[in-house]
Amino acid sequence: MHKVSVLFVCLGNICRSPTAHGVFQGMVNSAGLGDIIRVDSAGTGDWHIGHSPDQRTAQVAQTKGYDLTDLRARLVTTDDFAEFDYVIAMDKANLSDLKDMQPADYRGHISLFLDFSEQSSHSEVPDPYYGGENGFELVFNLVEEASQGLLQYIQAKGL
Ligand code: 4NP
Repeated sequence: MHKVSVLFVCLGNICRSPTAHGVFQGMVNSAGLGDIIRVDSAGTGDWHIGHSPDQRTAQVAQTKGYDLTDLRARLVTTDDFAEFDYVIAMDKANLSDLKDMQPADYRGHISLFLDFSEQSSHSEVPDPYYGGENGFELVFNLVEEASQGLLQYIQAKGL
């Protein structure tokens, strides 16, 4: 049975949060915690509902050993706050949107993903959608580092 649940949120749910979803899920599985920690992702915007991750995102993840093919974009909803202990935003705009949606009695954690990163030079995971290939590599690297920090944080709190 899942004891802890984590939802990653970005704008479109086709670049940054699916990367976080796939990478963090991979680390959770490798740590033997797949039955203990539930992982999901969603977006604040509705343009890509039902779509697979962006080709560029999927490509970078694939070369690093993570398969995102089964992921499909969905919208974050107020019901998610009843389901998830951690609702993790990629940038400050996502964070602001989530704080606006959050029920008054939500007792989970809403935070920026890179707050869990030990040595990040960035405070936000930058939106790569309209940029070049380098943006996708940067997203991956920031996500990988923060995923390690988040998993350590959750484990340190006790499972
Ligand atoms: P994401 O990137 O929030 O990391 O999934 C984006 C994807 C699509 C759009 C914006 C950002 N868009 O405007 O369609």
